[in-house]
Amino acid sequence: MLPAGPLMIEHRLIERAVSLFEKESEVISSTGEVNLPLLSDMVDFMRTYADRCHHGKEEEILFHLLETKDMTEEHRIMMTKLVDDHHRSRALTTSLNDLLIPFRQGEQGAVEEVIKILQTLSVIYLDHIEREDKHFFPVAMKYLSKEECDTMLDQFKEFDSKLIHEYYKMEVGRIKSTLEAKK
Ligand SMILES: [Fe+2]
Ligand SMILES: [Fe+2]
Repeated sequence: MLPAGPLMIEHRLIERAVSLFEKESEVISSTGEVNLPLLSDMVDFMRTYADRCHHGKEEEILFHLLETKDMTEEHRIMMTKLVDDHHRSRALTTSLNDLLIPFRQGEQGAVEEVIKILQTLSVIYLDHIEREDKHFFPVAMKYLSKEECDTMLDQFKEFDSKLIHEYYKMEVGRIKSTLEAKK
């Protein structure tokens, strides 16, 4: 298998999730109500799966190795644009989480902004995934030797195996600071 394989499998789950973002934006538009637990889960999915797990492997392993290759200007520009998309989605997810703060405190928040971010994330991701699947990954794989592909598949597995430990280490830190803030 090529390293694009596991990344493309992850794309299918991200596509399913962002299509639900679009649906939730429609529900909020028609009811005017924000489903806080659902949106908190969506923020968690974007942070933990789409960003840390998926973009993490792309940026820290695949793109990192491609940086050392003699890529054409066109391919380098494609990769830079993909990294810019990751930054944009990270910023949008942070903004979405910030917009949830008043709702968590039982106050009315900026409903229209929440709708806008959900729709933007959905549009950005569907386009981003299509560019990776159909345009960038096919050319990117050609820069890698068979040995580099095999090593990268192992690195992906190792990266994933560390995630749950990293996640819960952060969670314990978060719980600790919440408790300390209440003292
Ligand atoms: Fe990406
Ligand atoms: Fe991707």
